Amino acid sequence: MANAKFIQPVRRLRGEPRLPGDKSVSHRAAILGTLAEGETRVSNFLLAQDCLNTVAACRELGARIDQKGADLVIHGRGPAGLAAPQRVIDCGNSGTGVRLLAGVLAGQRFESVLTGDEQVRRRPMRRIIEPLTRMGASIDSEPGQLCPLRLHGRPLAGIDYPSPVASAQVKSCLLLAGLFASGQTTVRLPAASRDHTERMLRHFGAQVEQGTRESSGGHWSASEGEWVTIQGGRSLRGCDISVPVDISSAAFFLVAAALVPDSELLLKNVGVNPTRTGVLEVLERMGAGIRLESGRDAGGEPVADLAIRNTGRLRGRSISGADLIPRLIDELPILAVAAAMAEGETVIEDAAELRVKETDRISVLAGELRKIGVRVEERSDGLAIRGGEIRGGTADSHGDHRLAMSLAVAGLVSGEGVRIERPECVDTSFPGFWELLAEVSA
Ligand code: S3P
Repeated sequence: MANAKFIQPVRRLRGEPRLPGDKSVSHRAAILGTLAEGETRVSNFLLAQDCLNTVAACRELGARIDQKGADLVIHGRGPAGLAAPQRVIDCGNSGTGVRLLAGVLAGQRFESVLTGDEQVRRRPMRRIIEPLTRMGASIDSEPGQLCPLRLHGRPLAGIDYPSPVASAQVKSCLLLAGLFASGQTTVRLPAASRDHTERMLRHFGAQVEQGTRESSGGHWSASEGEWVTIQGGRSLRGCDISVPVDISSAAFFLVAAALVPDSELLLKNVGVNPTRTGVLEVLERMGAGIRLESGRDAGGEPVADLAIRNTGRLRGRSISGADLIPRLIDELPILAVAAAMAEGETVIEDAAELRVKETDRISVLAGELRKIGVRVEERSDGLAIRGGEIRGGTADSHGDHRLAMSLAVAGLVSGEGVRIERPECVDTSFPGFWELLAEVSA
């Protein structure tokens, strides 16, 4: 195998690794900055391949974007100012890029084509095509409602849409389409999902209302976890955005420090939006010692420093529930590694959505963890993991960034080390991952 990384067991982890910006927030900053009037200044933008593809897409739509390191200045085009793209917009590995941009492009006065890499071209697009079509969009897709998507650009009208999946990408797609639609657009999800789009839209001056089952005080249908409404036809004002550190990237270091004896790490400026902190709750329930310090607000997003210390062996726990799973969906691969080292059994349920991520993460995780000696059983909507130890050996990332980083953490606590095939995919969300891992291991 041409390219592989070998991660050896380590004795302890120490330090304050400087982790990269949030992927979800970075995509949204680039897109809303492009749609706004005037200048948007973004700091700590995530310079990972997924978000750079979204920046390229925004440039293709006519935005001038100046970049200096992780600082961007976006010269917005205003609500009617997007330019017709001259080529196919390729979002690479990013499902978020495709789905959010589809919401923007469906209501334009020009035609556009959105696509992505092999993994993205296998991911379900029906979940956005169906509601966008109800709003008046005209979209051609490949058989099975897959990418590439050809969006013909039509005037849209607001709808009230109950989405069958608790997906923030679907919700965000429809809110962005709703910005260009007549009237108001409401999206209802079966459970609350990350709300970065809503928070940022408000920061840009849009009129957005939202509610959750928790905030409603009773009168709530059992199948509904949240609703969001946006008024169409309003323009956005450019603003300043400071992107917090991605809690999904921080999760690899949190679990590593929770598993490697005698470890202590400080992770600064981490986004702790409650729609994303399921991983902290589960690690605490498993017995990890995490302290949140200096909580503050960064442009509508809560941020804190996370101090983590190894406190001995974790305990296996159930990870399930429609209200919890969307709040840690991207962290399930690394939580599976935590479970593999914990005492007792961990059962992950209600997570069938994992099958339509960058890879089928249920089957791929089960297969690769087994190769390194983990006792794991594949279920239709999750995994059952019997904790103990990780022997080590060779495993394949399948080109899935979160799997590669999870296997790396497994290597740190394994008996014999883990050799990871196809490790370069970490650049999708976390450039510099290998260097930071080496830094805290030294
Ligand atoms: C994301 C939403 C989630 C998540 C993905 C990023 C977003 O996907 O898994 O990594 O930025 O909106 P779904 O909306 O498909 O659940």
